Amino acid sequence: MTQRVHFASLAIVSALGITVLAASRLEPPVPGMTLANEHGTSSFGVGDEGYPIDNETVIAQCERCHEQDEQGRMSRISFERKTPEGWQTSIRRMVALNNVRLEPAEAREVVRYLSNRQGLAPEELEPGRFEVERRLIDYDYQGDDNVEFTCIQCHSMGRVITQRRTQEEWALLLATHRGLYPLADRQGFRYGGFAGEQGDDDDNRQPMDIAIDHLSEAFPLETPEWSAWSASMRPPRLAGTWALAGFETGKGRVFGTIEIVAGNTPDEFTTSAEYTYAESGESIRSTGQAVTYTGYQWRGRSNRGDDGELREVMMVDREWQGMDGRWFTGAYDEFGIDVELMRTRGEAVLTGVHPRALRAGAGATEVRLYGANLPTDASPTDFDFGLGVKVESVTDVSPSVLTLRAYVEETAMIGGRDLFLAGANLTDAVRIHDGVDRIEVSPDWGMARVGGATNFPKGYQAFDAIGWDNGPDGQANTVDDLNLGRITATWSMEEYTATFDDDDIAYVGELGPDGIFTPAEDGPNLNRKGSRNNVGDVWVVATHAGPEAKANNPLRARAHLIVTVPLYLKFDPWQSGFMPGRLVP
Ligand code: HEC
Ligand code: HEC
Repeated sequence: MTQRVHFASLAIVSALGITVLAASRLEPPVPGMTLANEHGTSSFGVGDEGYPIDNETVIAQCERCHEQDEQGRMSRISFERKTPEGWQTSIRRMVALNNVRLEPAEAREVVRYLSNRQGLAPEELEPGRFEVERRLIDYDYQGDDNVEFTCIQCHSMGRVITQRRTQEEWALLLATHRGLYPLADRQGFRYGGFAGEQGDDDDNRQPMDIAIDHLSEAFPLETPEWSAWSASMRPPRLAGTWALAGFETGKGRVFGTIEIVAGNTPDEFTTSAEYTYAESGESIRSTGQAVTYTGYQWRGRSNRGDDGELREVMMVDREWQGMDGRWFTGAYDEFGIDVELMRTRGEAVLTGVHPRALRAGAGATEVRLYGANLPTDASPTDFDFGLGVKVESVTDVSPSVLTLRAYVEETAMIGGRDLFLAGANLTDAVRIHDGVDRIEVSPDWGMARVGGATNFPKGYQAFDAIGWDNGPDGQANTVDDLNLGRITATWSMEEYTATFDDDDIAYVGELGPDGIFTPAEDGPNLNRKGSRNNVGDVWVVATHAGPEAKANNPLRARAHLIVTVPLYLKFDPWQSGFMPGRLVP
């Protein structure tokens, strides 16, 4: 009881501090971005870990089960650090399993506070970005093969490496796994099972104990990175105009601008963006909202009208001059743009040239230069692409696109060329080549999921055909090879002989002319031998027969596509009337 009174008074002191601070800046406070109480994190020494909590909502809502000690630390909560999505998961579990009842606004405040106070430093998040950016990649954890094997039976290692905990907290997490998912013991944690086969036969510890020891060393609660970052961290001031450049598999490069406007609190923003797919000319306008967490993690949603919403996950750089990440959608987050934003201040910014690959000796062609604040009065000689690349005329101008007629002399050296214009520059703006030696399908493997018949949505997979010039040495797969980017191709499927006579290509789905695969419906197919599901393995084949192909015309390449069942089990299954909805934009 005395403890609680003690902390109630501390909370008031700090709440006053917040109000005063906020008033002097005329801005409402951001949860977790004002000074901690007198027990600042730095006063904790070795063996005295854990972060004090001074947010009234967290204390009021969580204290009944998570007791607060004399230093303001709350059991469990104070001993871990996570991403905003990680905190969201914890809170949703508290609501689902422990009868916690939070108003949506309160729940969002708790996520903001905990993500700011107990988040990850940028360097700590970097290797696990694919997890928050929802990228389907083949991640290979370098830390420990046994632990990786134990922990990837049910989810990605990304979920593990985006957390930091004390040893006790790693142990409690795995105890929670055993309690909530009794299958964990069979699937990943059992003795002498998979883990033993992975190598180290002398280590007779239970795989879970091996994991606890490894993780508490590799991902401890306190790190120099976090101490340094949390000392300097603040909400980044992002209002202004930013140039946007991106790439979407299946559609190619996009260029445009985004206007970021300050919101009600220093960590909230509204946005309006305009961008164009360079290949198709399709233009998108969107408006959105975003919140920044931990001083650098942008989480937003933008609405593209009929094209629906995109979720935006980006990292702001330390100088607040750039951001990059992924904007995505799809039932499995499978459609997305890799986005890069550059702050503009009225000076010319160059973001890209389309087409980027230019063939020596091919004659004059139309080239578009994208950017912001481009000089609309530039004359042909102002464009400096280096030796052998000539701009004949400027045919159309706007501050965001300049259209040129340009040609590359037959004798121009092959390789990437920087562009200089009006005091601005763009590294590796165009790639001069002398023909296409080979093509590749990217990604080199993919996964789609049948769906649409019942409650499970389809999971799509997009592919690109990428052209390559073997470079000056004429040899394939050497360092001087030039990637020429997306190249036109016709698409087809071929049988991948995993199961004899299963005719997968007749059942798994359709590969569109744009390289985007649409899977068939889920459930048993009565027209298929054995009434099998429409799953299978196929080769996705790209064929390029353009005049630029040097030899072996037409050029061919293929990628392996696995068409599998829907993700029946989602790790966020608890829906209750009390669930406060999405806590992170
Ligand atoms: C009614 C009791 C109860 C309340 C109230 C409660 N929790 Fe919990 N909390 C638990 C229990 C039980 C566990 C351990 C089991 C688990 O992790 O699900 C736990 C575990 C946790 C963990 C550790 C989970 C992990 O990552 O391993 C976090 C973080 C947490 N709670 C946060 C909160 C927050 C934040 C609040 C307030 C918004 C809260 N809890 C309110 C009962 C509660
Ligand atoms: C049997 C399946 C299974 C195995 C094996 C497994 N996990 Fe999990 N794990 C889950 C599920 C299911 C969740 C989702 C919990 C939720 O959404 O609340 C989860 C969630 C997590 C989380 C996020 C939970 C939070 O509250 O922050 C972490 C971290 C984690 N697992 C770590 C591990 C580690 C480390 C290992 C290996 C030692 C491991 N998992 C092995 C099933 C598994």
